[in-house]
Amino acid sequence: NYSELKYIYQPAETKTQNTLLLLHGTGGDENDLLPIAKYFGDNFNILSLRGNVSEGGMPRFFKRLGMGIFDEKDLAFRTDEMVHFIKDLAVKENFDAGKIIALGYSNGANIAGSTLLQYPDFLAGAILYRPMQPFKEISATVVNTKKTPVFMSNGASDPTIDPAATVRYVDVLKKAGFDVADYNLQTSHGLTQQDIQLSVEWFKKHI
Ligand code: MLT
Repeated sequence: NYSELKYIYQPAETKTQNTLLLLHGTGGDENDLLPIAKYFGDNFNILSLRGNVSEGGMPRFFKRLGMGIFDEKDLAFRTDEMVHFIKDLAVKENFDAGKIIALGYSNGANIAGSTLLQYPDFLAGAILYRPMQPFKEISATVVNTKKTPVFMSNGASDPTIDPAATVRYVDVLKKAGFDVADYNLQTSHGLTQQDIQLSVEWFKKHI
């Protein structure tokens, strides 16, 4: 049985078709990424979700068994739940569920990534800050038919993410048909101005 997710929905002032879907990191909430969204302009609706899994009081989008070790069964379920929730909400709030660009940080980037893999044509684009490959095994039957643009940025000195694993993840997404731009920055896990600047440039070009 699916549960609801807490959310903030802000329709764009001018009528627009795109919706930016904000997905926070572990311990965050639906308010965290609102300031980041401002850098991308205001020509889109904003839908910001709060993960409905709690890790010792910290909101997350799915369970994990340890640092970087995901409960893949829960992740698959939470991904279904989130997509179902967004589709229902699109009807209720009157936005186009076919024009959603995810923007996720860390744990939020990881459920955005599982959405790309589980529903390859659902998102119209994705910005993934500090992502990890969400599932260990990715079926070769994952196919994106729209060359959906995906932006990724990772930190070379991030202790939680293995750069070699990132290379493999990028390869998986490219093979599935996604149009991936990936950046390896000289930084760690925290979000930097450079992540924002690069993703804003990417957004202007691809969305
Ligand atoms: C995750 O659990 O999704 C990753 O380890 C990132 C994070 O710390 O949230």
